[in-house]
Amino acid sequence: MTTLSVIKADTGGFVGHSATHPDLVATAEVLLRTKQEEGLLLDFHVGQVGDDIALIMSHGRGREDEAIHQLAWEVFRQTTEVAKKLKLYGAGQDLLADAFAGTLKGLGPGVAELELEERPSEPVLVFLADKTEPGAWNLPLYRIFADPFNTPGLVIDPQMHDGFVFEILDLKADRVAHFTTPEESYDLLLFLGAPSHYVVRRVLRARDGEVVAVTSTQKLSLIAGRYVGKDDPVMIIRAQSGFPAVGEILEAFARPPLVGGWMRGSHVGPLLPVSFQDRAVSRFDGPPRVTCYGFQLNRGRLVGPRDLLGDVAFDRARRVALEMAEMMRSQGPFEPHRLPLDEMEYTSMPQIMARVQDRFQPADQAGPARAAARGGLARRGGR
Ligand code: F6R
Ligand code: MG
Ligand code: MG
Repeated sequence: MTTLSVIKADTGGFVGHSATHPDLVATAEVLLRTKQEEGLLLDFHVGQVGDDIALIMSHGRGREDEAIHQLAWEVFRQTTEVAKKLKLYGAGQDLLADAFAGTLKGLGPGVAELELEERPSEPVLVFLADKTEPGAWNLPLYRIFADPFNTPGLVIDPQMHDGFVFEILDLKADRVAHFTTPEESYDLLLFLGAPSHYVVRRVLRARDGEVVAVTSTQKLSLIAGRYVGKDDPVMIIRAQSGFPAVGEILEAFARPPLVGGWMRGSHVGPLLPVSFQDRAVSRFDGPPRVTCYGFQLNRGRLVGPRDLLGDVAFDRARRVALEMAEMMRSQGPFEPHRLPLDEMEYTSMPQIMARVQDRFQPADQAGPARAAARGGLARRGGR
């Protein structure tokens, strides 16, 4: 069995929250190479998107392995040190604990892990997104695994014809449920359509239970109970030979969905598909973006990556996404560009409410006269 572990964190931004610094990537590569030489890792690649570093690692140790999680923790500890020396922005922002205690669960970094028996040829796609949340994968995953208008293989490949099982996680109650498509699509969509509350954790092939996709489902704001940064998600999908084709998977990103997590984790914007070259963010700290690392697994070796969203065929999607971005920006501080009050990652609402709450009177008694009597209107020049 081969295990793919994709573990990502923001341990310091360059400049602001826009990109990663090359010294952080180099630091990660040195430690991972040492561990590959020592035999812990079969192979690795350090991916990037926005201000996040993603450790894409292959090994034979299974999911939630202590040595692998500890290695990732050590990489992020070292990149945090480099970030502090360079005074990069938000150094160590995704490391929520002082010490490692056996697993990365709840410590901040995003984790997606998939264990597989390598097929005669094993194409895998690793998606990395910045300035958004794990629910950003809901719509693309539905298209890939449940929508025949996106994935003709659902109709014409006998191996996929029985459909797929979506494992969804209720982020607020920490519970999971399974829905099988196509028969339970309508039930499933009710939950997938609420991506800040329900997220897809895994997708399995209905016929044999083979795991075909996994996502990272940490929500930093829920873990820490306060705003500590974006839970920018990652996702691994296996392709071809009874799974969706590479092109069917990528097709789901050709019509950009609107996702939460832009500027201050509090705005909605399009999920812009980008090449490696365009993986740093800029406008309004975004827009949210996704990039895709394609590999052929070869006895645990990661042959690649190929920049799968770099193709000109996605230029139209990029243009559309930028138009959508402009449309959303024109709304300024109004919903639906700004997220609803209870979904903003950080908010001044409690302080403002505390300051003005006695202005709110029962609606049938309140009136300008009462407010004026309290000086509220007078102080504002009577208007
Ligand atoms: C961070 C992010 C950014 C920040 C914004 C304010 O991933 O999405 O939009 O929220 O730059 O950052 P602070 O509060 O650190 O100045
Ligand atoms: Mg950051
Ligand atoms: Mg980030």
